[in-house]
Amino acid sequence: MTFAKITQVAHYVPEKVVTNDDLSKIMDTNDEWIYSRTGIKNRHISTGENTSDLASEVAKQLLTQADLAAEKIDFIIVATITPDSLMPSTAARVQAAIGATNAFAYDLTAACSGFVFALSTADKLISSGSYQRGLVIGAEVFSKVIDWSDRSTAVLFGDGAAGVLLENTGEQPLIIAEKLQTDGNRGDSLRSGITDLETPFASKSYEQPALSMNGRAVFDFAVRDVTKNIEATIESAQISREAVDFYLLHQANSRILDKMAKKLDVPRDKFLQNMQEYGNTSAASIPILLSESVKNGIFSLDGQTKVVLTGFGGGLTWGTTLINL
Ligand code: ACO
Repeated sequence: MTFAKITQVAHYVPEKVVTNDDLSKIMDTNDEWIYSRTGIKNRHISTGENTSDLASEVAKQLLTQADLAAEKIDFIIVATITPDSLMPSTAARVQAAIGATNAFAYDLTAACSGFVFALSTADKLISSGSYQRGLVIGAEVFSKVIDWSDRSTAVLFGDGAAGVLLENTGEQPLIIAEKLQTDGNRGDSLRSGITDLETPFASKSYEQPALSMNGRAVFDFAVRDVTKNIEATIESAQISREAVDFYLLHQANSRILDKMAKKLDVPRDKFLQNMQEYGNTSAASIPILLSESVKNGIFSLDGQTKVVLTGFGGGLTWGTTLINL
């Protein structure tokens, strides 16, 4: 049997920090509203780097930490909904930037669930025995798709990237249990990147080029459906919720985490949190939290820790992987 293992983690965010007070100078908002509603204090915002620049920094760090030549990488998956371009993909740009000449590369679009979906996919690529090593990265420059005149969404998001090196050196399964879900019928509650159908043969304008979100609907979806998904995933592994060491969830809103912890009857401090520093970085949020936690010594990659990774967002998409780290 071949098992995938996360052997390295890394993250990279743009240097510029934008505080809630900074935002209150350019729109009608304030620190008290943002922090009490979301738990967010700061976010990092790009002053020039695009999504592939952030992802390439992560890829370089992963290779340096592993002392691994780029040619040894078999695949690169970048989860993003803010690619530099649709063609070439962000992953192809990363492949070129690091010189991973033997790797195939593609982007995966599942909004804030993107990293969890990508990790599940990459695990299968490796545990099938077909590939030995891959990079799985979540990367977003969300600042370029935000409607900066809409205070109800502009204050929520940040830019960043993070990822893992996955290798075929595991002594146990990486994923103990997983459950990935999508409900396209509720897709309209989160939308971005809509392109008008304007051709010599058609004329259809959607009048909504920037990000739009029904915040209340997404909040309720997260608390209800995503909590059930976590519960079902843990149950299917036939372990107790106490046996899970840490819960690393998409960093959208601290009040969502409060409610989930209560519903699941799990101590709130097992739900790690860093949205105060980064805001909602979509597909990058879970790997940034994972990388920071390892770098801060909260847990290590020694195979002894059981962690829930849960993403939720546009699509609607949501999903959990319960993993051995
Ligand atoms: N500053 C000050 N006031 C504001 C701001 C702001 N930035 N934004 C909105 N308000 C005002 C509104 O205008 C409204 O005023 P009114 O009562 O006079 O009309 C009031 O604050 C309340 O607005 P609500 O939208 O009802 O606020 P709510 O308490 O629902 O919080 C929030 C909004 C934070 C967006 C919340 O709904 C939320 O976090 N939802 C979940 C978002 C999420 O999880 N997204 C994850 C997926 S993202 C992805 O996949 C890309």
